[in-house]
Amino acid sequence: MAARSVGWLTYVPRCAQGRGPVRRPIYRLFRCAGTVAADLRSEERLPGSVEPDSPDKILQKRFSEVQKERREQAQRTVLINCPNKISEKKFLKYISQHGPINSHFFYESFGLHAVVEFCQKESVASLQDAVCTPKLGTEPAIPFRSRFFNLKWKNPLNPTSEQPDVQCSNQLPPTSKKLFQLLCRAESIDDQLNTLLKEFQITEENAKLRHLTCSLIEDIAAAYLPYCTVRPFGSSVNSFGKLGCDLDMFLDLDETRRLSPGKISGNFQMEFQVKSVPSERIATQKILSVIGECLDHFGPGCVGVQKILNARCPLVRFSQQASGFQCDLTSNNRIALKSSELLYIYGTLDSRVRALVFSIRCWARVHSLTSSIPGAWITNFSLTMMVIFFLQRRSPPLLPTLDYLKTLADEGDQCVIEGHNCTFTSDLNRIRPTENTETLELLLMEFFEYFGNFAFNKNSINIRQGREQNKPESSPLHIQNPFETSLNISKNVNQSQLQKFVDLARESAWILQQEDRAGPSAASHQPWGLAALLLPSVSHSKSLAKKKRKKPASERIRNLLDCIKSNRAEGPVDSSGERTTRTQA
Ligand code: GTP
Ligand code: MG
Repeated sequence: MAARSVGWLTYVPRCAQGRGPVRRPIYRLFRCAGTVAADLRSEERLPGSVEPDSPDKILQKRFSEVQKERREQAQRTVLINCPNKISEKKFLKYISQHGPINSHFFYESFGLHAVVEFCQKESVASLQDAVCTPKLGTEPAIPFRSRFFNLKWKNPLNPTSEQPDVQCSNQLPPTSKKLFQLLCRAESIDDQLNTLLKEFQITEENAKLRHLTCSLIEDIAAAYLPYCTVRPFGSSVNSFGKLGCDLDMFLDLDETRRLSPGKISGNFQMEFQVKSVPSERIATQKILSVIGECLDHFGPGCVGVQKILNARCPLVRFSQQASGFQCDLTSNNRIALKSSELLYIYGTLDSRVRALVFSIRCWARVHSLTSSIPGAWITNFSLTMMVIFFLQRRSPPLLPTLDYLKTLADEGDQCVIEGHNCTFTSDLNRIRPTENTETLELLLMEFFEYFGNFAFNKNSINIRQGREQNKPESSPLHIQNPFETSLNISKNVNQSQLQKFVDLARESAWILQQEDRAGPSAASHQPWGLAALLLPSVSHSKSLAKKKRKKPASERIRNLLDCIKSNRAEGPVDSSGERTTRTQA
């Protein structure tokens, strides 16, 4: 376990080396499990990873501990819309009149915003007591006491004698051009995958902003439903989120329901008078409908509120303009929260998992295998399950099965939700580190090889057992829901989307194999390795060609190789034939 937090010089077997000696010395710094997090600056580390210099560096925090800390931190935090020309020093001096500040940062989203975390919760109340409701001229304002403020100059004509000096934290992934340049400058394919991870992963500031947004929404919901909590789930917290991903929120009413009868002696028991409804689903729909109205009418910064109550999982969708997040608020969705914890465990166990998942998600997006619009596409969630399954199938396995994680569970981990057993260990430190030392390059190539040849027609993907099983139904792609085991999380995927995935996986495996044989390209600014796989032009021109001419696969692959070779020599070409250095994420 100790080895998981350090990089060390090790022998890499020939089979795992991949490319030629220019980028691949036989002896090199081998990045093992957990090292990416340790390499990153503190503000870039994955939530839950330990301080690199701490004496107990092998201890990893539980998901619930990380979430509890984040929630408590968010409750001490405020969001302030600031005038553009502001001096950081003066701003902090003004705000700290309400108490000491633990941390702060600025960012841009429809104007300059500051996130200020106080050391104590009382400081927030002090600030709120000193704030007034604006007079909006002819437009009447709905008074609402939130933690989202506007800061204005008392005298806008003479704002400050000091120079504005605010540095803004970045909340967005790199541009395609920048990513492409970084990938081409990398030392190896492993380095490319780690670079992509580092550039795309949610930063410390972005994580804080996500938790603060949930906390602000909770304040609004709590006006109607005291004791409710709003928790983030999905990729915002499961370690696989990229900058710019949506913010999935869960309105948790368990605390309201659990309010136990007071311990008063006597023969009686008191209950709240409540209204009853025909089903849990209807209760969820009614609650979300009311909260949707509240967000629409009273939620500062909440715009474009849509109530999507007839979906399988009813939700309220809206944008939080001030944070820039597209938000999906659900309720009664506890299994999804448990899935997030499970993915967090898999993502935190070994840094190669996240690096691989990020690259494959990016690859899928570039080639339009995934989409932000619902439809017959593979989802990021399904892709992550496929990567986890693939890593469970390595020899030795890189990841344990869910059944194994269940055997490590203790009393406190026992969990049954709506009759489904969702038990697994929450303690990462109980899980033995893998003996698998395969490079990311090898894993990437083998992933494409594995799924390019997977018997999707008869087999199901199952991370609970970590082995292929007969498909229980005829959907083209069957990925067993890890907790509701009778469900298929990829039921929406049709045969043509699956075939597209298979074709692209085969082509990508083939490209990596050819690169391996050809050795590294001479000019590092030309697309190679992962960058070559992320060229949209290749897939677009290929799919157009496929539609028009239905060429045999061998010819398509030959063309693809020619295209990459010519791209190396002259720069990439997009589908319109123009030179471009565009990649997408
Ligand atoms: P992004 O694409 O980065 O947003 O990834 P995501 O994991 O957040 O996916 P999404 O926003 O679509 O869904 C949020 C969470 O809902 C996922 O992480 C899962 O926990 C859960 N989820 C999504 N799709 C399914 C599904 O088809 N079945 C089940 N059981 N859960 C799902
Ligand atoms: Mg999401």
